[in-house]
Amino acid sequence: MSEITYKPGKEPHPRETRRIFRNIDRKGYDPSIKCFIKDGGYETLKKAMEMEPSAVTEEVKKSGLRGRGGAGFPTGVKWTFIPKGNTKPVYVVCNCDESEPGTFKDRFVVHQDPHQLIEGMIIACYAVQAHYGVIYMREEFPEAARIMQKALKEAEEAGFLGENILGKGYDLKIILHRGAGAYICGEETGLINSIEGLRPYPRIKPPFFPAAIGLYGCPTIVNNVESLCQVRQVLMRGGEAYAAEGAQRSPGTRIIGVSGDVKRPGYYEIVSGSMTFGELLYDVCGGPKRGRKFKAIIPGGASAKVMRCDEKLKGRNSDGSVKEMSIFDVPLDLDSIAQHGSMSGSGGIIVMDDSRSMPKVLNNLNRFYAWESCGQCSPCREGNPWMLKLSTRICEGKGSPEDVDLLKSVADNICGRTVCAFGEACSWPTQAFVTKFREEFLALTKPINALKPHSAEAKEARKFLSRED
Ligand SMILES: Cc1cc2nc3c(=O)[nH]c(=O)nc-3n(C[C@H](O)[C@H](O)[C@H](O)COP(=O)(O)O)c2cc1C
Ligand code: SF4
Repeated sequence: MSEITYKPGKEPHPRETRRIFRNIDRKGYDPSIKCFIKDGGYETLKKAMEMEPSAVTEEVKKSGLRGRGGAGFPTGVKWTFIPKGNTKPVYVVCNCDESEPGTFKDRFVVHQDPHQLIEGMIIACYAVQAHYGVIYMREEFPEAARIMQKALKEAEEAGFLGENILGKGYDLKIILHRGAGAYICGEETGLINSIEGLRPYPRIKPPFFPAAIGLYGCPTIVNNVESLCQVRQVLMRGGEAYAAEGAQRSPGTRIIGVSGDVKRPGYYEIVSGSMTFGELLYDVCGGPKRGRKFKAIIPGGASAKVMRCDEKLKGRNSDGSVKEMSIFDVPLDLDSIAQHGSMSGSGGIIVMDDSRSMPKVLNNLNRFYAWESCGQCSPCREGNPWMLKLSTRICEGKGSPEDVDLLKSVADNICGRTVCAFGEACSWPTQAFVTKFREEFLALTKPINALKPHSAEAKEARKFLSRED
């Protein structure tokens, strides 16, 4: 098992550094505990449990690890937000909802290497002294749920879960909780309500974040699947060594899912900041499809602001002077993308070439957000169907040039006025698409360019807008 080879056609690109995905598509590797242990599995847990829980948290803080669920919050720092002197039970919840369009990484870990996640999660639970953990899994992952249930049973039988783990007097139960198939269940407080059996309405924060008041009113740490797998890497390699690899402010490897108009879409695990968008899309993903040119990129899941490939960006040389650059020159790390007005979010890059109509792409996204709004607050509940109505009207050639501005103004009035970050997630696409591709929206207000009323997109949009539920 020590020699690593991959299934034919699934070999990593030479510029990848596979740590979390080390066993994904590995030849002869299966999700059983036998395979995992043979390969050094659960050794890191033994190492972590030799340390004081607070020392484990310190190590994670030292590593500079930032969450991989979207917001990029420092993981170790989050763990320290559990109130000092807390006497209530502490919970750890693994967020395996993965519903953001364009994001597809966590599901592979669960399908092919579930014990890696369980080991990382036990380490996290030990660090914050939780005795109960929940893996919250998206409803649409039935096969992953079956695999995870089996893996949890195996871990319990092997003594890594249950009472007196590794003879250290530490007890931990981890259960699997299936979601109800809604995007908002991925938002951490909606997720917590869902576990409690309530409607997944997100809770207002601040002032109280889940680390202080979470599941059943107790301190709760919510972390993404990839983040918990990274915790295992931190303990395996040491916080300092982890911090030394990759971009200074977002170290470690990152799994990037590339979908859309490239020759080789797929997942790639790279050291953060080790390559630019251009190197990823041209060298690793093979460039655009034959005869096509890259037109636009959504760099971090559907909610991230779209970027034009011909956009002139401003960067800095090492001497501090200003230089002109394009999206292809931007390094793939959290802060560099944020500096240029978008975000690397959940690591899902959606690529569009010059065959795509941007209004149609936005209309598709608007349909998703209108469907997924939980309905708790008015700007989001009312604004999303309104944005869909406007983008559909524009696509059908029935819109006026004023509708283009109205569409953006509806988005502007959702953003920042809602209970949860879905308000930003749904309005950023409209704001960015309309601002950056305004000419395409305006062109569609001339009927000759319109989306055909009998086209699949027009029918889908009408079906949604006339639904009665
Ligand atoms: C609408 C919405 C959907 C989200 N969906 C997910 C998701 O599917 N998976 C995830 O890990 N985080 C998701 N998040 C982020 C979580 O709220 C939370 O920040 C994250 O799970 C924390 O984990 P991390 O610190 O390890 O990144 C979502 C956030 C919002 C606003
Ligand atoms: S912003 Fe949207 S998804 Fe979030 S609570 Fe309000 S209605 Fe629900």
